[in-house]
Amino acid sequence: MTTAAATGAALAARFYTDPRIAEWETDRVFGSSWQLVGHESDLPRPGARIVAPVAGREVLVVRTEDGGLAGHLNVCRHRGSRLVAAAEPAGKAIRCPYHGWTYRLDGSLVGAPESRTIPCLDKPKLGLFGVRVESFLGLLFANLDPHAVPLHQRVPGLADLIGRYLGADLEPVGRYRIQDTATEAQDANWKVVVDNYLEGYHVPVAHPGLMRLLDYQRYTATIRESYVYFEVPIRDKPSSNRRERLYQRLASPMPGLRPEDHRMWRYAVIYPNTLIDLYPDHVIAWSVHPLGVSRSALPGAFYAKPGTSWRTRLAQRLNIKIGWITNDEDAELVARVQRGVSTPGWSPGPLSQRETAVGWFADRIRADLAPMDAALAPGQAPQGGTR
Ligand code: FES
Ligand SMILES: [Fe+2]
Repeated sequence: MTTAAATGAALAARFYTDPRIAEWETDRVFGSSWQLVGHESDLPRPGARIVAPVAGREVLVVRTEDGGLAGHLNVCRHRGSRLVAAAEPAGKAIRCPYHGWTYRLDGSLVGAPESRTIPCLDKPKLGLFGVRVESFLGLLFANLDPHAVPLHQRVPGLADLIGRYLGADLEPVGRYRIQDTATEAQDANWKVVVDNYLEGYHVPVAHPGLMRLLDYQRYTATIRESYVYFEVPIRDKPSSNRRERLYQRLASPMPGLRPEDHRMWRYAVIYPNTLIDLYPDHVIAWSVHPLGVSRSALPGAFYAKPGTSWRTRLAQRLNIKIGWITNDEDAELVARVQRGVSTPGWSPGPLSQRETAVGWFADRIRADLAPMDAALAPGQAPQGGTR
């Protein structure tokens, strides 16, 4: 059988099930990539702070006096106490709750109580460990790799595709925040969750609501080196479901969008684990974090443009309901996949052209883990496996 275009190869089972791979990913995948940690609206004033998980650490991001951003590891240089708990109020400094060592917002050490009793207190050398932070279209990202290419350079063209939906002025809708890892969890390896997001091939079988709402035949994926961008139009034919029909009728764009955004759903994935849903009526920015080999957290938040009309807000509410139904369906699907890929002897079948982005993701993961995985591969792929 011939295929019209290369679709790539899915990941071998060990990538979803082997704790050694999960351990390597911490540094090789998460420790060297840009990780979504928040939105500008989370840091409204100098001294405001957020704490978010990055590659098995906790990163503290603060708004500095001059309105900029500073990132630090959330750990005290004295004896290692966690510095800031989630949801602490803004303040002029960062004070460790253990012995009171105090740091400026930029991370430099101001002083320690009874500092004369500490003979080796070399303050300039005892600032907080710095972490790179970048605001991209109003979303905040952190990277533990001091030499990382800036995010906006890593995703050329993405701002042109999705920038009008985003920005520092977005307003949160509802109570979820990007830092809340308790928002949603699913029983699957984080890559099973990302794979599932990267393809629409399962929509006709697994998401009846989306199938009524969306023009599946016109679902497209554009793959670039470090991101994938999807588009799917909303169908004109009224859905048989009341809520979906009402949404089709009310769907209208937020301020700043273009006429062609009116009846289009778009998605973007920034490698490895940032997912952005772009609807006419709201935006969701979220990410997928491993909570062990076979469980993932999916923290994220909903946003709308300021000045969004009541009609669009109504559409937004309907869409968010539809989104939770889809999410529940996906949670079940990924849990099933996790069970399946854990079956000894299983190896993946070929990918469809509608799953090309799954192949892209698999290639990126294999490349990141190649040096370690080379040692693991032969003994761990009983059916000959895939690459
Ligand atoms: S551990 Fe932070 S002041 Fe001692
Ligand atoms: Fe899905």
